[in-house]
Amino acid sequence: VNGKVVIPVVVNVLYRTAAENISDAQIQSQIDVLNKDFTATNPDFANTPAEFAGVAANVGITFELVKINRKSTTKSSWGTNDVMKNAKRGGIAATSPTTNLNLWVCTIGGGILGYAQFPGGSSSTDGVAIDSKYFGLSGTANYPYNLGRTASHEVGHWMNLRHIWGDASCGNDLVSDTPVAKTANYGVPVYPHVSTCLPAHNEMTMNYMDYTDDRGMFMFTNGQKSRMSALFVSGGARASFGI
Ligand code: ARG
Ligand code: ZN
Ligand code: CA
Repeated sequence: VNGKVVIPVVVNVLYRTAAENISDAQIQSQIDVLNKDFTATNPDFANTPAEFAGVAANVGITFELVKINRKSTTKSSWGTNDVMKNAKRGGIAATSPTTNLNLWVCTIGGGILGYAQFPGGSSSTDGVAIDSKYFGLSGTANYPYNLGRTASHEVGHWMNLRHIWGDASCGNDLVSDTPVAKTANYGVPVYPHVSTCLPAHNEMTMNYMDYTDDRGMFMFTNGQKSRMSALFVSGGARASFGI
């Protein structure tokens, strides 16, 4: 991935209450956050500890809102089984998912902030679902998940990134420049967060692929950038985006 890489984004809003029918401005605020976080122009990028500054990345991928679809529903929660992506079951079908990143904004329920489909899955369910309470800035966005970082994290998954702890105790996230982490970190850990995985080192709790509050996460690494960029080149799982 070189030069100008732009991912067209379609936002699909499913609402039962007026509040769930979030404003165009709230939607655009989320696109703006993605653009900042994926180009290292987010103001808090500067909070990256010196220890990690050498691996902190400008991913160099940008996002452009191309369409907003809205649909009223009687469903009060959609769960995590892709029903929101199925028009026959009351959801909204993905728009050209091989060339657009589809986002579904709805009430998911069960305390789930959002979930993503990894590359390589069925195109009809490809994309990211995010609860409207954790999408964008202001409006329905709820502290401490009101800085749009649920989308930054989920789009990271959509671009093949694993959780920084590798979903196992001191697990492997398949990225060499992210230090091994014991498990998910929550809240806003005070730096340095010394790992209990050996040998002794500090965990990168400020990575978007940890589980901290939105204000605690503000960087991707070069290794994560390589993994994401590889998808879009010829032969990559998202080469259809043509970028
Ligand atoms: N729990 C969700 C996931 O595993 C998202 C976590 C997002 N964190 C945040 N601070 N917004 O994909
Ligand atoms: Zn995740
Ligand atoms: Ca790693």
